Amino acid sequence: MSRLDGKVALISGAARGIGGETARLMAEAGAKVVVGDVLDDRGRQTVAAINAAGGQSEYVHLDVTRDKDWIAAVNLATGRFGKLDILVNNAGVFIGKGIEEISLDEWNRLVAVNMTGVFLGTKLAAPALREAAKSSEHGSAIVNLASVAGIVGSQLDPLYSMTKGGVTLFTKSAALEFGRKGYRIRVNSIHPGIIQTDMGEQTFMARAQRAGSNDTAPVRQNVTETVPWGRLGVPTDIAKGIVFLASDDAGFMTGAGLVVDGGMTAT
Ligand SMILES: NC(=O)c1ccc[n+]([C@@H]2O[C@H](COP(=O)([O-])OP(=O)(O)OC[C@H]3O[C@@H](n4cnc5c(N)ncnc54)[C@H](O)[C@@H]3O)[C@@H](O)[C@H]2O)c1
Repeated sequence: MSRLDGKVALISGAARGIGGETARLMAEAGAKVVVGDVLDDRGRQTVAAINAAGGQSEYVHLDVTRDKDWIAAVNLATGRFGKLDILVNNAGVFIGKGIEEISLDEWNRLVAVNMTGVFLGTKLAAPALREAAKSSEHGSAIVNLASVAGIVGSQLDPLYSMTKGGVTLFTKSAALEFGRKGYRIRVNSIHPGIIQTDMGEQTFMARAQRAGSNDTAPVRQNVTETVPWGRLGVPTDIAKGIVFLASDDAGFMTGAGLVVDGGMTAT
């Protein structure tokens, strides 16, 4: 796995799931990690486990929709660990509703977390990332969690897909803007397929309920059969990709998207 020795990372939505596993792997790869989330107890447990294994991490309450929380999280990283090299915009929410079913309030919540959260993180971490980049051969890095639903259309989750499509193109535009300004902040996205996390379960439940059932087992079976590699993803499949994009091994990558989906979008 790529190394992150001497780097400092801030990961949103890192109490559990893909973000939690990314925090663990980043610490294992040598980074100091700030774990941000709205699930304070779970986030503190994640940090305690990392530190018990010999890593260095801190928890911060970070609601990605609030600019004050972002400022405090960046300040914690620079105050406690001296700088910020890596931002992972991982926090996200899912809503398994169609265009005619979703309410305006639900849509606004989806946009607030999945899009406003990514914008605010990028804007408010940029000064610290830019500063750290000055003393790093390969610059600083932002990794945004998009989705396969941000590359191809989604029959079942059109609104979630719209937010992730936004993250896909924002990633490219931010890479171009920061490149033009000479900031030396690489910005890339990762596009997971279906991953077994709480959110993965929510996607199965939404599909089951649409078919009039609460039984997710047949849905899981059907979805697994659509994956060319023959299994669902696990958080570590994605976390390894995030560590790579954040590392100096990806030093010539910016504005790119890494698809980690067991071949789902190859068809
Ligand atoms: N699981 C999948 O199949 C899948 C597929 C493609 C993309 N993704 C994306 O990967 C990312 C991580 O998802 P996951 O599967 O680990 O889901 P998850 O639900 O297990 O984790 C998401 C985390 O984000 C946090 N979060 C939610 N709202 C927040 C807010 N306002 N501020 C801060 N944190 C907040 C949650 O508390 C949780 O810890 C998301 O952006 C998701 O859209 C997941």
